[in-house]
Amino acid sequence: MSHPLSVLVVGSGAREHAIAWKLAQSPNVGTIFAAPGNPGMAALAQCVPVSVTDIEGIVDFAQGRECDLVVVGPEAPLALGIVDALTRTGLVAFGPTQAAARVESSKSWAKELMVRAGIPTAQCQIFSSPEEAAAAARGMGGEVVVKLDGLAGGKGVAVAETAQEAEMAVYELCRANPQSAGRILLEERLEGVEVSVLGISDGEHVCSLLPAKDHKRVGDGDTGPNTGGMGAVAPSPHLSPEGLDRVHREILEPAVAELARSGTPFVGVLYAGLMLTREGPKVLEFNCRFGDPETEAILPLLETDLADLLLAACHGELAGAACEFQASACVSVVMASPGYPGPYPTGIPIHLPSDLPPEVVIFHAGTSSREGVLVSAGGRVLAVTATGDIIETARRRAYAACSRVDFPDCHFRRDIGCIRCEAGEYTP
Ligand code: AMP
Ligand code: GLY
Repeated sequence: MSHPLSVLVVGSGAREHAIAWKLAQSPNVGTIFAAPGNPGMAALAQCVPVSVTDIEGIVDFAQGRECDLVVVGPEAPLALGIVDALTRTGLVAFGPTQAAARVESSKSWAKELMVRAGIPTAQCQIFSSPEEAAAAARGMGGEVVVKLDGLAGGKGVAVAETAQEAEMAVYELCRANPQSAGRILLEERLEGVEVSVLGISDGEHVCSLLPAKDHKRVGDGDTGPNTGGMGAVAPSPHLSPEGLDRVHREILEPAVAELARSGTPFVGVLYAGLMLTREGPKVLEFNCRFGDPETEAILPLLETDLADLLLAACHGELAGAACEFQASACVSVVMASPGYPGPYPTGIPIHLPSDLPPEVVIFHAGTSSREGVLVSAGGRVLAVTATGDIIETARRRAYAACSRVDFPDCHFRRDIGCIRCEAGEYTP
């Protein structure tokens, strides 16, 4: 490297904090900026008050500071074409173009791509009006998954048990997301354990990261409503190394090849949300970015230099590359505001322990700094993360750190990484 790299991380969640934290460990990285960042990121990055969807503002900033690399965290700016705008001005940006980001921003487009590439996924029918979809759902007579086409912040999917529930779900989802009501998917309901596999792609080649398990439900034992994710474990004990290899060969490689063949080569993180069914892994969804909270549990185990890896992807140089990981485990526990995922207060003062062991890191999500005091500012507030030689060691360390965080009335799951929750063998 000729000069220390200057990198801009776009986003303000625990995922972006984890990305900035990992980049800061690279000997090649000099300065890190975060737009807009958060108080946790401010310890390692210069935070600039530019919103993630202010594409012009981000391009202007990156140009003005001559950033060598822009890493985009969330899906919203990717779907708005932030990478197209950055690369038009000659900047190097890690993330897919607006066209390739459709793997996430259009579920019907992603489904058609999977069918063309022969990628295992749930059977699906696509409808262009709620009435047609509701009539079909009635005829399907039971278990069906209803999905709307566009981005809906995780609220565009309903898993129905009965025909009546499915029909109601069609109308409710369409009412809540009128902008996406023109394309409705009815999908076969798959059974199994869910795992996320993220691949870094340079448009042609793909490197798989460790499989990770998100915990979407708010309550212990996977109970209660869905959330943005209450914790993650990596590597997921449900997917063996042979299983990961199968996902790489049957899902990630064919998807990257089909994206390129269709004229929308994908550079960035191709995230496969999988159901490990009896017949093997099947895709529930693709996302076009790092997963949250999976990234908080994956990056602490990554041994490969993250800046080198992301730059290699941007320059189409991932041929023969592999991501190296420590042979240990990581558990990340999300501490949330009282009431989350329903309405919650903000502004609760938080005190973090100043003497954390080296295996523990607390990534900030919804925090802010008010007159020098750290306060809560969102639903998911902290991702308390620990590594260990096995999941159990990591789990104990993470929960010991949670018990030392002073965050009145917060709640968090007590079973992230516990044997009962994570046990289960998967053989491909
Ligand atoms: P998606 O946004 O498509 O990943 O869906 C959100 C959640 O709905 C997933 O994490 C699954 O828990 C569930 N889900 C989606 N599709 C299916 C399916 N075909 N079968 C069973 N569950 C599903
Ligand atoms: N962990 C779910 C997501 O990132 O979409």
